[in-house]
Amino acid sequence: MNKRVLSGMRPTGRLHLGHYFGALKNWVTIQENYECFFMVADWHALTSNYADTSEIKDNSIDMVIDWLTVGVDPNKAVIFRQSEVKEHAELFLILSMVSPLGWLQRCPTYKEQLKEIQSKDLNNYGFLGYPVLMAADILLYKAQNVPVGEDQLAHLEYSRELTRRFNNFYGEVLLEPQALLTKTARVPGLDKRKMSKSYGNSILIAESEDEIVKKVKTMYTDPARIKATDAGHPEGCVVFAFHELFNKNFETRKQECKGGCIGCVKCKKELAELMCEFTKPFVEKRNELLKDKAAVEKILDEGRQKASAEAAETMKEVRKSLKF
Ligand code: TRP
Repeated sequence: MNKRVLSGMRPTGRLHLGHYFGALKNWVTIQENYECFFMVADWHALTSNYADTSEIKDNSIDMVIDWLTVGVDPNKAVIFRQSEVKEHAELFLILSMVSPLGWLQRCPTYKEQLKEIQSKDLNNYGFLGYPVLMAADILLYKAQNVPVGEDQLAHLEYSRELTRRFNNFYGEVLLEPQALLTKTARVPGLDKRKMSKSYGNSILIAESEDEIVKKVKTMYTDPARIKATDAGHPEGCVVFAFHELFNKNFETRKQECKGGCIGCVKCKKELAELMCEFTKPFVEKRNELLKDKAAVEKILDEGRQKASAEAAETMKEVRKSLKF
C-alpha cells in the first residue's frame, strides 16, 4: 500500500509561479507514488477573511482549475473542499478541547501575522485555532505524510504534539504525521520580495504572453549596473533567479552577466521568451478547463464522496475512544 498524503491550500484564487515551484510541481510528482488527498482549505480562508467571504467560492474554483491545469490528476488524487466534509469541523471541535492555549499563543506564524497584518482584525478565536483545524485536516485521513513548505512546519509540529496528547488521553487512535520535505525552489517576486499575491509582485501559472513580457520588463535588476558592459551581479538579480528556473543554460548566462557580455534588456527579453514557452501549455489547458466548470464541480463532488468515506471511518473510532 502506498503511503497516504494530505495537503491543502487556502483558496486565494488564481495561483502564481511561487505556488507552482513551491508546492504544486511536487504534488504532481507525489501523486504517482502516494495516495494523495488534496484539499481546498476554504474554512481556513475564513479564519482571517471572515468579514468578507464573497470571494471564497470563486477563488476555490479558480484554484482547483489551476491544480488541474498543471497536472494534478483526479484519477490519481482525491481533490475536495474542506467545508464539504463536515467531519473536519467535528474533529476540530474535539481537538480544541485538548489544545493548550499556550501552544497556540506561542505559535510563530500566529504571532507574526498578528503583528504584520494590520488590514484585518485577527483577534478572533478561529484565527488562534488555525493549527487545530489544520491538525484535524491531517488526522482525519490518518495521513502519514504532509508535504509542507518551511512556512507550515510549525503547524505540522503542532499537529504532531496534539496527536501525542490526544492519544495519551484516549488511546492510540490518531496517527502522528511526518513532514514530507522536498526540495523546492524559492521564487522571488518581481520586486525581489517573496512572490505573493498580496505584494502584487507575482506572475501567474497561466499568465498570458503579453502580461509576461510586461512583467519581466519591470523585474528588479542589479542597480550597480549602468552600462551593458559593466560587470553584473547575478546573485542578487531577480532576472537571473528566473533564468535558474527556466533556462537550462543558466550557468552560461551567469558567466555572460558577470563578464558584462550581455545587457539586462536582452537578458530580460530572452527570459520572457522562455517563460512564455513554459506557460503556453498551461494557458491553453486553463482555457479549456474554463469552458466546462461543471466538470470541475463534478471532480470536487467525487472527491467529497471519497474523502467523506475516509473521514467517517476515523470519526467512528474517535467517538468510540472518547466513549461517546
Ligand atoms: N495552512 C496551509 C497553508 O496555508 C493550508 C492547509 C490547511 C494545509 N490544512 C492543511 C496544508 C493540511 C497541509 C495540511 O498553506
